[in-house]
Amino acid sequence: MSDDRIRLHALRQSTVGHTAIGLWRHPDSRAHQYRDLSFWLETARILERGRFDALFVADALGPLEVYEGRVDAALRDGIQTPTDDPLLTISAMAAATEHLGFAVTVSSTYERPYQFARKMTTLDHLTQGRIGWNIVTSALDSAARNLGLERQIPHDERYVIAEEFMEVVYKLWEGSWEDDAVVRDVAAGVFADPARVHPIAHEGTHYKVPGIALSEPSAQRTPVLYQAGTSPAGKAFAARHAEGVFLSTYDPAMARGLVEDVRARAAAAGRDPASLKFLSIVTVIVAEDDGTAQAKYEDYRRYASLEGALARYSALMHIDLSQLDPDVPLEYVETDGIRGMVEVFTRMDPTRTWTPRAIAEFVGVGGGGPVLVGSPATVADGLERWIEESGVDGFNVADPVPPVTLRDFVDLVVPELQRRGRVWTEYEGATLRERFHGVGQARVRDDHPAAGYRAVPAGR
Ligand SMILES: Cc1cc2nc3c(=O)[nH]c(=O)nc-3n(C[C@H](O)[C@H](O)[C@H](O)COP(=O)(O)O)c2cc1C
Repeated sequence: MSDDRIRLHALRQSTVGHTAIGLWRHPDSRAHQYRDLSFWLETARILERGRFDALFVADALGPLEVYEGRVDAALRDGIQTPTDDPLLTISAMAAATEHLGFAVTVSSTYERPYQFARKMTTLDHLTQGRIGWNIVTSALDSAARNLGLERQIPHDERYVIAEEFMEVVYKLWEGSWEDDAVVRDVAAGVFADPARVHPIAHEGTHYKVPGIALSEPSAQRTPVLYQAGTSPAGKAFAARHAEGVFLSTYDPAMARGLVEDVRARAAAAGRDPASLKFLSIVTVIVAEDDGTAQAKYEDYRRYASLEGALARYSALMHIDLSQLDPDVPLEYVETDGIRGMVEVFTRMDPTRTWTPRAIAEFVGVGGGGPVLVGSPATVADGLERWIEESGVDGFNVADPVPPVTLRDFVDLVVPELQRRGRVWTEYEGATLRERFHGVGQARVRDDHPAAGYRAVPAGR
């Protein structure tokens, strides 16, 4: 039964403009409250009421400054600039909820694995096993420059480094402390038994970590692992490590191609391909009836910022789109990168003429995924159809007018999906990983590479 239920994550970044660009100006939007803890607690409670598996918090480590070669447009619309740290709200949200998981983004390129492993274990302790990690290798040049590099480490090399990073953190999380290392024997005066805590002795190309993990093991040990690669190196990485795979496509057939590709690679790496769960970005504008929902969507759309959307897509594509005439159809533009982008949109809707302005209006509300507009029944039909056509396991629900759009989803769409038996009505299991792999499965599965680093008890 559980296999045909739809998995729900919500998508946010600690910033003003994330997937929706310009909508911070809508009178209902509280996007600017990303700085307020009360805003995050309210969000977490809404999601738990809707029985969401987790809140996914995205992150970027540099300002967006490809458009016009400067940061101005990103600042004007608050597009991932400014952005706060994604980790620091988590323990407060955990205290305000009992079941909701948290998938936080941290870059393998700029963290050091030893201290990062401790941060994640700390969060797994404080959330009692509800933490996940979205592994990113970071693509922004601005991040590289501000974090002390002359220029970006090349794309595929970042994945090579990430591979060794994973080896180090697996050793720390899975191999350093045996399960019964903490004995807390008051009579003998032993808190942790030194014979059961092992130095990892890692000596690699990029990292040297001789010692023991600083934290004792947490409920999940390794956090639930997410990734969103689309390049060959990124997909190979997802196939090896990811338990949750984030997708951003407008077209279910394209999503299906990615799902099948990554699942085949996972099977070739010796993993059960069904154990990888794919979550696709979706934006939902819902109201009691189709007409009211459509009017709401038109209202939101009026606030989409053309310049802001172009600035965001410039950063994503590493191409400065400021040079283009917003009303000239993009099919006439002779740039490979832009052709790729146009193809994505024409596949989604071949009947439309896609100009920069049309794309900006569309992505202004929906960011990197489809926009479903309608009554609860219309939206539920749309979500079910998307699942069927794409083969994804669930959705990453965006929040263009926070927290109103998420609250609408929880109040109107979730009950409809529950009536159809397509989502959970109660949480099952205590940890985030149990929601992926079943009750009792708090630790990584035996076919996951992290399992190969488990501590073998000495002499037993
Ligand atoms: C839904 C989704 C969310 C993502 N979130 C982040 C993020 O928070 N931070 C980040 O640096 N990259 C993020 N990315 C980018 C991916 O990590 C990845 O770099 C990108 O999809 C390109 O794939 P590649 O790394 O294989 O080239 C996200 C991608 C998707 C599809």
